[in-house]
This record gives sequence, structure tokens and C-alpha cells, in this order.
Amino acid sequence: ARITLRQLLDHAAEHGYGVPAFNINNMEQGLAIMQAADSLKAPVIIQASRGARSYANDIVLAKLIDALVELYPHIPVCMHQDHGNNEATCATAIQHGFTSVMMDGSLMGDAKTPASYEYNVDITRRVTDMAHWVGASVEGELGVLGSLETGQGEKEDGHGFEGTLGHDQLLTDPDQAVDFVAKTQVDALAIAMGTSHGAYKFTRKPDGDILAMSVIEEIHRRLPNTHLVMHGSSTVPQDLQDIINQYGGAIPQTWGVPIEEIQRGIKNGVRKINIDTDCRLAMTGQIRRVLSETPEEFDPRKYLKPALEAMSKVCKQRFEEFGAVGHA
Ligand code: G3H
Ligand code: 13P
Ligand code: NA
Ligand code: ZN
Repeated sequence: ARITLRQLLDHAAEHGYGVPAFNINNMEQGLAIMQAADSLKAPVIIQASRGARSYANDIVLAKLIDALVELYPHIPVCMHQDHGNNEATCATAIQHGFTSVMMDGSLMGDAKTPASYEYNVDITRRVTDMAHWVGASVEGELGVLGSLETGQGEKEDGHGFEGTLGHDQLLTDPDQAVDFVAKTQVDALAIAMGTSHGAYKFTRKPDGDILAMSVIEEIHRRLPNTHLVMHGSSTVPQDLQDIINQYGGAIPQTWGVPIEEIQRGIKNGVRKINIDTDCRLAMTGQIRRVLSETPEEFDPRKYLKPALEAMSKVCKQRFEEFGAVGHA
């Protein structure tokens, strides 16, 4: 059944687990997520970016979610807008059946320029007012995602800020977090501690200098009842990088967020963990493998089925690692 982010994360907090939020763009990803959730009896967050909504079309996406929920009625599904950039994106998501929206006011409406604190409070508060009137949940974000190694934005995959920022903007300030939650009444808070979107998060296995999990611990001490969200939380597993490269890909060596760091977050109030890149890597590796091993094939099902299965395997691993198994 469809449930809100608030309902799902309250349950996760009560039982001490984390819920992966997987991005969806198409049917194969939807089936991969739901087959994994069903096989492990886990609740799930499915999220669509603005890019996903324009890629799949809002109506197609809405009916796809309807179908997935109907197919697995016993699995709690939160349908969430990822990185909403303004009030209209959030309102139209809810019109299409989303039970939760992210209002990302850490960036301006262009989703590239870092915003002022006042702008963020103001727009997020307007969205929580609107969403709560109709029973939907809201995730806010305080602090800008980006690399503490370089201060750089996320140009390589086309979203996030452009240019260089200092640690004061790349790390969420705990005092400000307390004020932000009180003023905006968000149901969940995404915080910045050195992760970024995409495959190229870290040039080495991250330590506390470049992945500041201590910020999460401090915010959780100050806001013990606020559900925290980690963005940019793909692990970028070595074996998935290797498969892509083995079959003609060119992914330079890179590191993501180690599972044990996410587990440390879950012990400290992190309840929603956003994962897109790992699923992309898993699918692409299998598509590359099938096309290169059987160049005579041209039936899309021949490569999409292994891609779906590889993504589903990643989803299962995350449900297990985050302690969500059996909580549906
Ligand atoms: O926000 C990041 C997610 O990975 C979605 O990416 O905007 O390319 O769909 P996207
Ligand atoms: P990854 O790119 O690390 O998978 O992060 C996804 C994300 O944060 C979506 O909002
Ligand atoms: Na989100
Ligand atoms: Zn994100």
C-alpha cells in the first residue's frame, strides 16, 4: 500500500532501521525495486527526480507506480519527489499520487545556485504548509551537497551547484538545523557532510576529513526526533565498476560511501538513504556484458532482464545492510 514518508520513517525510527530510497525512471527499475522489497518483506521509498518525470512522462510514471502498488499490495511504498526545486514541482507531484516531496531549497530554483538560508526557510515552509494540508510529507535540505576534497560542484552529471564552495556551506551547521526544523516543520531533513551525487564522490576510500559523519552525530544529538536523510549515498562498489570496464566502459577508479558509514548514520538518526548511482552501474554493467558477449542479439529483453536482475540484487543488499528486512 502507498504510505507517507512520515509514516514510514516513524516506523523505521521506532525499530532502528534505515530505508533505502531508490530512483525510478522506467518499468525495469520499478520491477527491480519491488521484486527486491517483496522477496525480503521490506518497506521501500521510490523516488523520481524532475529528470525522471520528464523522461518517463508524469502520466506514465503515475500509472506505473499505481501498477507496482497494486502488484505488491502488502509492501508499504512511499512515492517521493526527489530534489523538488520549487512549489509547483512539489504540488504537481502530489497531484500525480506522490505521498512525499523533497523541497530542496539549498539551491535556487535553477537547481545550480546555492541559496540563502532565508530563501530556504521561506520556500520550504510554504511547501510544508501546502503538503501537510493534503496529508503528504516533506523532506528539506540544509547545506549544499559537494566534495570536501575539492569544494567542487557536480558538473559531471548535470545537477548540483556549479563552482567552488567552502566547508561552511558543504557541512550542515547543527545550530542552523535546529532552527530550520522548528521554522519549516519538515518531516525529514537532508544534511550535507561531504557526499555528492554520481559515481565520482571521493578519490580515495573516505575518512572523517572528507566524509564528516560526526556532523550527523552532532545533529542527531540536537534533534533526536528528526528523521535524517543521506543523499549521494551510493557505495559505488568496485565489482560494479570492474564489470563496466571489463566490457568496454571507461569509469576511472572512484570511491563512494562505505556501507559501514551508512550503518553508523542509521545508529544516529539517518532513516532515508538515497541510492541511484549503484543501480545505474549495476544495470549498465549487464547491458554492456550482454551486448559484448552476444553481439548478434537485438531483442531488448535479452539485456534488460539481466539489467533488472542486477539492480534487484543491489536493492536486496541495501535492504539487508540497512536492517529493513521483515519490516513490511
Ligand atoms: O538527484 C540525483 C538523482 O541521482 C537523480 O538524478 O536528476 O539525473 O534523474 P537525475
Ligand atoms: P547517488 O548518486 O549516490 O546514488 O545519490 C542519489 C541521490 O542522492 C538522489 O537524490
Ligand atoms: Na529526495
Ligand atoms: Zn540527492
